[in-house]
Amino acid sequence: MGLLYLERCEFQMTQELILANATLILAGETRTGALRIVDGVIADISEGAAVPAGAQDLGGDFLAPGLIELHTDNLERHIEPRPGVDWPHAAAIIAHDAELASTGITTVFDAMRCGSIPSGKKGGYKKYARQLASEMLELRGKDMLKISHFLHLRAEVCSETLAEELSEFTEQDRVGLVSLMDHTPGQRQFRDISKLEQYVKSKRGMSDAEFIDHVARLKDLRAQYGDLHEAATVAEAARFGAVLASHDDTTAAQVAVSAGYGIRLAEFPTTAEAARACHDHGIAVMMGAPNLIRGGSHSGNVAAQELAELELLDIVSSDYIPAALLQAAVKLGEIWGDLARGIATVTAAPARAVGLTDRGEIALGKRADLLRFGLGEGTPMPRAVYSRGQRVA
Ligand SMILES: [Fe+2]
Repeated sequence: MGLLYLERCEFQMTQELILANATLILAGETRTGALRIVDGVIADISEGAAVPAGAQDLGGDFLAPGLIELHTDNLERHIEPRPGVDWPHAAAIIAHDAELASTGITTVFDAMRCGSIPSGKKGGYKKYARQLASEMLELRGKDMLKISHFLHLRAEVCSETLAEELSEFTEQDRVGLVSLMDHTPGQRQFRDISKLEQYVKSKRGMSDAEFIDHVARLKDLRAQYGDLHEAATVAEAARFGAVLASHDDTTAAQVAVSAGYGIRLAEFPTTAEAARACHDHGIAVMMGAPNLIRGGSHSGNVAAQELAELELLDIVSSDYIPAALLQAAVKLGEIWGDLARGIATVTAAPARAVGLTDRGEIALGKRADLLRFGLGEGTPMPRAVYSRGQRVA
């Protein structure tokens, strides 16, 4: 009885945290100041280097909104750390969650592929998204995860099972994003088939004959199911209340089709022409951080830096390297001569694209999802990460 009473009291007690003498990265500017966080929400923002009693002195370190990641393959990497290795899923999800937290990511849309090819052998894909999503949501329900998770269903139209896999998800599954993908050889990401050949031969150990067979099979699948799968994806995204994204748009004509579907977010357009068409249609352009850091795309498509210089890049995703997200935002800050603008591509801009109004900037009433970092010779060093005011890394 006494213990129960104490627990209730503790639960009702106000939790306060003051982070002072920070270089705050606000909308459009950086400024020295302090944040007061009450019950996980930003309650006050003040200017100056003063460190009040009870506050933490950040010693001038940057304090940014927690990063928002819309498209990461990182969970898949933890589930299958080597080809054919199925790591215990709960452990993999927890490791993935902790890894993202350590890089400053406080909100993630975990990408999972829907649309498998069970009849393919080396070129096949097994169905996994529904089960993995349930496992992730269960851990989240038990409060076992550090950061905020949503689902990003990658709807692969060049597959055998897309429509039935999507039908297994509901409005309660936190599906925040559905991306319409078409990886049929000879177009979009794989316009240059030699890049696909390099990728699948090294990853799946295909021979020349197997590769020719694989390409023919995928083209058949597209012809057989493509239109049906595309229509199902548009309808199912609306049923989930999810934002619909396009993927690897290459031509202005493809972007016009995307716009007709109500798409407002384009993942990794492969040409400047497509990125420009996106802006003409009011579609936000997202590019991969590894592309920006490496100075080009591994599939030979347009360089993210080129789009940044053309003012055609709005959002960055870490894609397959979580730590690259902060690195890329800092690099964009250098390219544009405006750190706050660089950071906005991984905070405010992704929040806006997926309709999350409670986070993405340091402002009164927003979630206290925060990232403290320093810079060592231009390389960002995450020093502390908070989710709703609780330290998670
Ligand atoms: Fe792609």
